[in-house]
Amino acid sequence: MSQPIDLRSDTVTRPTPAMRRAMAEAEVGDDFYGEDPTVNRLESRAAELFAREAALFVPSGSMGNLLAIWCWTDRGQEVVCDSRSHSYVHEMGAMSAIAGVMPHTVASSDGILTWDRIAPHVHTGGGYYAPTGLIELESSHNLAGGTVYPPEVIADVAAHAHAAGLKIHLDGARIFNAAVALGKSVTEITPSVDSIMFCLSKGLGAPVGSLLVGPREFIAKARVRRRILGGAMRQAGVLASAALVALEESPKILARDHENARFLAEGLAQIPGILLDATKVATNIVIFDLDVRTTAAAFAAALRERGVICAVFGPQTIRMVTHYDVDRAAISRALETIRAVL
Ligand SMILES: Cc1ncc(COP(=O)(O)O)c(C=O)c1O
Repeated sequence: MSQPIDLRSDTVTRPTPAMRRAMAEAEVGDDFYGEDPTVNRLESRAAELFAREAALFVPSGSMGNLLAIWCWTDRGQEVVCDSRSHSYVHEMGAMSAIAGVMPHTVASSDGILTWDRIAPHVHTGGGYYAPTGLIELESSHNLAGGTVYPPEVIADVAAHAHAAGLKIHLDGARIFNAAVALGKSVTEITPSVDSIMFCLSKGLGAPVGSLLVGPREFIAKARVRRRILGGAMRQAGVLASAALVALEESPKILARDHENARFLAEGLAQIPGILLDATKVATNIVIFDLDVRTTAAAFAAALRERGVICAVFGPQTIRMVTHYDVDRAAISRALETIRAVL
């Protein structure tokens, strides 16, 4: 059988030949002592790209989000976040287990929290309520199907949050996808948030790593706490070199992933038994429901047997994600297989 068409996630991308070459040739040192020139270059470049004072290379997006939450809050506070945010749903309760804060979740249909939705959940302390310590937003929003925050919504939330003395952390694991969808730079769409985490190991295709960007003092604190988590690294330039290639080259080709996602969604929407509004697909994530007498797990198993891999997101819900290792022809083959299985 030919290579499986793996649509589970954009995390399954393998490093490009250019990344592998960069890794082989990377100049390295001990990053614990701040002596890895390639890591230093990556952190400076990330800070520059986002127009922030500093950046920190971390092994994963989850660690970046946790560090941001931990560094911005005090124990006993709440983090206001979307009820399907990655930090709340998929990060193993780390914000409570390690940072000692509670998620205060807000429901939304599209993953976009406007200030109107957030405001009733903000507590300034006193009375019977834990004080709000941080607001967390996510763009693009994974579990909401790759939706993108309009920059003016982020700016409005930030203006209100800052007026209330609150910081905003943006889980921008796929912020480059959001920027491409909006036709703007990452700086243009994130000017008012206080910190951003973005991943190199998703659509950008690097093998490992994420970056946390923000003010110098905050990043210095996060660097110490990364050590507490056991996340300080040594010759991490081997990873940072691939990340640098990803950062410079990959954003240019994300539009193709988005076109492929739309093509996939339009094809899926025409298959009887699939419920999907293809017009809502804004980036590289396609989430749909099955309206047939089978479960998502059985459907995914049948697809896998035929060489198409997807993620089960609920009893009747499936997620498929496009990325550079899956081209248009592979998507067409996936659609044929899905049609045959259903
Ligand atoms: C929106 C979002 N945030 C954070 C993460 C965490 O990244 P990592 O898997 O590198 O911990 C993910 C991973 O899928 C994600 O989708």
